[in-house]
Amino acid sequence: MTCKNLTNADKHETILSAELIGDRTCELGRAITQDYRDKDLLVIGVLKGAFIFMADLIRAIDLPLLTDFIQVSSYGKSTESSGTINLIHEPSVDISGRHILLVEDIVDSGLTMKWLMKHFTGKGAASVKVCSLIDKSERREHPVTIDYVGFDIPQGFLIGYGLDLDETFRNLPGVHHYNGE
Ligand code: IMP
Ligand code: MG
Repeated sequence: MTCKNLTNADKHETILSAELIGDRTCELGRAITQDYRDKDLLVIGVLKGAFIFMADLIRAIDLPLLTDFIQVSSYGKSTESSGTINLIHEPSVDISGRHILLVEDIVDSGLTMKWLMKHFTGKGAASVKVCSLIDKSERREHPVTIDYVGFDIPQGFLIGYGLDLDETFRNLPGVHHYNGE
C-alpha cells in the first residue's frame, strides 16, 4: 500500500523509498520460498521494529507458514544500545523441532541477534535463520550470519517503516536518516 501526498517524512533524507523496499521484499520472499519449499516454516518477528517488514515479508512468501513474535529490548531512550538484552515477550508457539526464520529490522552491533540465535537454538529449534531488512555490517561487534539481507546501510540513525526513535517515526512509509529534530 502506498498513499500519495504524505508529507510527514519530508524533513528527513530518504534512504529507502516504500517502493524500493517493496521490490526488495518480493525478491527476499521468492528466495525464502525456494529455500523452505520442503520444510515447515515458523516466521518469528522481533518486536517492535520488525512489525511492518514482517507483515510485508510473510505476504511475499508463497508457502504455508506459522507466525509468532518475540520482543526484546536493548535500546533505552536514545540512539545508542544499552548493551544488555531484556526479554519482554516470548512466542507462544512451541519452538522445539521447528525451522525458524527470525525477522529483524536492523542488525547493528549483532548483540541482539547473537542473543536471539542462542535463545532459539537452546529451545531445540531444528534450524534458525535470519532475515533482516537492514544490515549495518560495518558496525558489527558480534559476528552473526544474516541469511537474507534487504539492504546494507553503513551509517546513520534510521527511522521509518517500523524503525523508531523513542517510539516515534515508526509510521513513515519509507526509511530515512534521522536529521536530529
Ligand atoms: P544490535 O543489538 O546492536 O545489533 O541492535 C539491534 C537493534 O537495535 C535493532 O533491532 C534495532 O531495533 C535497533 N537499531 C539499531 N540501529 C537502529 C537505527 O538506526 N534505528 C532504529 N533502531 C535501530
Ligand atoms: Mg529491533
